[in-house]
Amino acid sequence: MEAALNQHVVVTGGAGYIGSILVPELLRNNFQVTVIDNLMYKQKSLAAIQASDRYQFIEGDVREIDQLVPYFEKADVIIPLAALVGAPLCDQRPEEAVQINQEAIRKMCGVLSERQKILIPTTNSGYGIGEKGKMCTEESPMNPLSLYARTKVEAEKIVLRRQNSISFRLATVFGVSPRMRIDLLVNDFTYRAWKDGSLEIFEGHFKRNYIHVKDVARAFLHGINHFSKLCGQVYNVGLSEANLSKLELCQAIQNHLPSFKFTESATGKDPDQRDYIVSNEKIEKTGFKPTHRLDDGIRELIEAYTKQEVCISRNA
Ligand SMILES: NC(=O)c1ccc[n+]([C@@H]2O[C@H](COP(=O)([O-])OP(=O)(O)OC[C@H]3O[C@@H](n4cnc5c(N)ncnc54)[C@H](O)[C@@H]3O)[C@@H](O)[C@H]2O)c1
Repeated sequence: MEAALNQHVVVTGGAGYIGSILVPELLRNNFQVTVIDNLMYKQKSLAAIQASDRYQFIEGDVREIDQLVPYFEKADVIIPLAALVGAPLCDQRPEEAVQINQEAIRKMCGVLSERQKILIPTTNSGYGIGEKGKMCTEESPMNPLSLYARTKVEAEKIVLRRQNSISFRLATVFGVSPRMRIDLLVNDFTYRAWKDGSLEIFEGHFKRNYIHVKDVARAFLHGINHFSKLCGQVYNVGLSEANLSKLELCQAIQNHLPSFKFTESATGKDPDQRDYIVSNEKIEKTGFKPTHRLDDGIRELIEAYTKQEVCISRNA
């Protein structure tokens, strides 16, 4: 394990869904943390850590690189989460999506020194449509179907051209965060099952892989703590037992909400045509294992919706 104490981590987009879980976890693990975020959702998700003397918040836009150089210079580790996230939002704002998700990453790499470490989250949706019954590995061809996935594939290429970089191809994340996103599939289906009691799905056999938001934070910590071992590589980060079709996901939700009814529509197309299963063996072999199961996430989501502990917000 590499020394954590006194390392300075800069997290762009740190006030987002993942960042709002990751940043407090970094502080708990003794890192010094600077968050750069433009608060585009007017979120106050990091309010609970404001008082920490190892934490600094900078309201800023990752596209304005000149203003951010002094903060990047101080970093030992950079985790660039800032992005327009999700296919629908990127389709609504295509130019900004390229500028923020891709070009801001290029500019950032241009001002960093080679000694500084980057751990970037990309997306396993870059696999697009996988070969039937065959697991996508890090060697599988990329086939991004949306502008969002294309910008993330490009960002990964940019980051991996430099030394001291890791890319985590994240599965679809689920679970409760202080900056909630209910546009994510598990969070969304569970919300509709809880609120409406029924759901009509398109192309219910389409499969994908999932991971709990707290395990994503744990993966970043694992990456920092074992950086020299993982460096220069791409890793799928997902819950291996959760390569599920939408119908199987509905079934899992129904186990918690028995009156939930779901039907598959014979007409209509899923706007997001991705369909793949993913192997997470490469990161597991480095000693990382998720600790939260899909059922844990569904249970905590239902509890949070019932107690109105989360703000119901979608990216688009
Ligand atoms: N959530 C998932 O399922 C998932 C899966 C794969 C990869 N990722 C990646 O993880 C990262 C975080 O995703 P998330 O789910 O937390 O999304 P999110 O939308 O909650 O977070 C994005 C954050 O970036 C900030 N931001 C947006 N534009 C900015 C700009 N120009 N300057 C500064 N800050 C800006 C937003 O205010 C927000 O806090 C993204 O890079 C995303 O591509 C997420």
